[in-house]
Amino acid sequence: MVRAHEAGWAHAEGALRGPAWLREPADPNALVEHLWSTNVAKDASGELTVAGVPVSRIAEEHGTPAYVLDEDDFRGRARAFRDGFAGWDVYYAGKAFLCTAVARWVAEEGLCLDVCSEGELAVALRAGVDPARIGFHGNNKSVRALRRALEVGVGRIIVDSFHEIERLTELTTGAGRRAPVMIRVTAGVEAHTHEYIATAHEDQKFGFSITSGDALEAARRVLAADGLELRGLHSHIGSQIFDSAGFEVAAKRVLALHARVASELGHTMLETDLGGGFGIAYTTQDDPSTPAVLAAEMRAIVEHECRGLGIAVPHLSIEPGRAIVGPSTFTLYEVGTVKEVALDGGASRTYVSVDGGMSDNIRTALYDADYSCTLASRSSEAAPELARVVGHHCEAGDIVVKDEFLPGDVAPGDLLAVPATGAYCRSMASNYNHALRPPVIAVRDGLTRVVVRRETLDDLLATDVGGSEE
Ligand code: LLP
Repeated sequence: MVRAHEAGWAHAEGALRGPAWLREPADPNALVEHLWSTNVAKDASGELTVAGVPVSRIAEEHGTPAYVLDEDDFRGRARAFRDGFAGWDVYYAGKAFLCTAVARWVAEEGLCLDVCSEGELAVALRAGVDPARIGFHGNNKSVRALRRALEVGVGRIIVDSFHEIERLTELTTGAGRRAPVMIRVTAGVEAHTHEYIATAHEDQKFGFSITSGDALEAARRVLAADGLELRGLHSHIGSQIFDSAGFEVAAKRVLALHARVASELGHTMLETDLGGGFGIAYTTQDDPSTPAVLAAEMRAIVEHECRGLGIAVPHLSIEPGRAIVGPSTFTLYEVGTVKEVALDGGASRTYVSVDGGMSDNIRTALYDADYSCTLASRSSEAAPELARVVGHHCEAGDIVVKDEFLPGDVAPGDLLAVPATGAYCRSMASNYNHALRPPVIAVRDGLTRVVVRRETLDDLLATDVGGSEE
């Protein structure tokens, strides 16, 4: 039996060999291709390139750390969802990563956009996204944000509480406006990688519970409000999901409620949204599906359920974020120090410190997420050695890649690249230790373009107004 160490996974027995899934590679220079965006390769000298651009040039011109976004890869994944789910609406979940360039690409590739704050809405509007193609989420949207959403005419507001229904009713009453509303429901499924757990799922802040009757009551209240137009139900079961079993249970429960709203409340809703959460490969442990396969499975599930319920198939939508932007981006770091730390029993661990860390990728510290990395600026003849890649922050948990086999001669000045950092890295980045958040550099056809610039010390100091009296 493997027992967790009281001080956490980093102290667990066997940590020195790395986790069981991590295999020592024959050649630590080799790229595990499916972890990288389509246009990433290593050139004849062993340097990492993206769309023909060597990473040393990106580092020289733009500095490190930097998020490097393969534009064609992003667009390709967006199109794969659009085409795979033809006839459905695909809402790109902007929380994964959003900037005006990305919002424009999303619109150009024919996708809609999911935003969940006034800030994300502002980015979408600045990018010129058609408000009618925006869905607005959030469990505690401010009155100001709701008012703004109504003013600009967002296509759907996904309501999440009775208070929000009241607020929207107040904002629309007498204002000559109707708000298109979807109801976020809790389908009672908590999805994990290869399983779903049907307990404890109700105990979270999002949505109206189907089981308790709150979801039906929400539909009743929305229908009773003159200014609200009930368009459908919305369910999002979780993230980093690799099979459709969870979606099947959710679809069954959501569509059953859809049928009840028609039979008991006399209103046939037009739409159903089954949310996002499609998994991607961060390491060799992960084996994601393709949009085409997911679409075929989800179509079959929905058609089967609707047939059983004797209802017409509603207009459907999904909301992938990570599966579109996650694999499109890698983070480029420069190595600053390498330290051999002696451990019990004569063992040691190599700590490779890079110039970023938990401020540009909090996922390792926050979710115990696994990442991989490669020596990006050169190839090496040195044998592979297990290393831990850490950041420059004042915290021992500031780990970027817990375990990876790197060439044993990794040294200060080398560039390291971490794949699959497009989702929830820049969007969750912080200024911890007054770090400057890195830029996002889009690369396409041999050209680099800054889509989000690096923060400067002036940016940081600009908000620190000092509190002096006038
Ligand atoms: N739709 C709704 C209503 C959501 O809440 C989310 C994610 C998505 C769509 C998109 O899910 P995706 O396809 O990107 O998995 N920070 C965490 C993930 C939080 C997800 C929040 N909601 C992480 O880094 O793993």
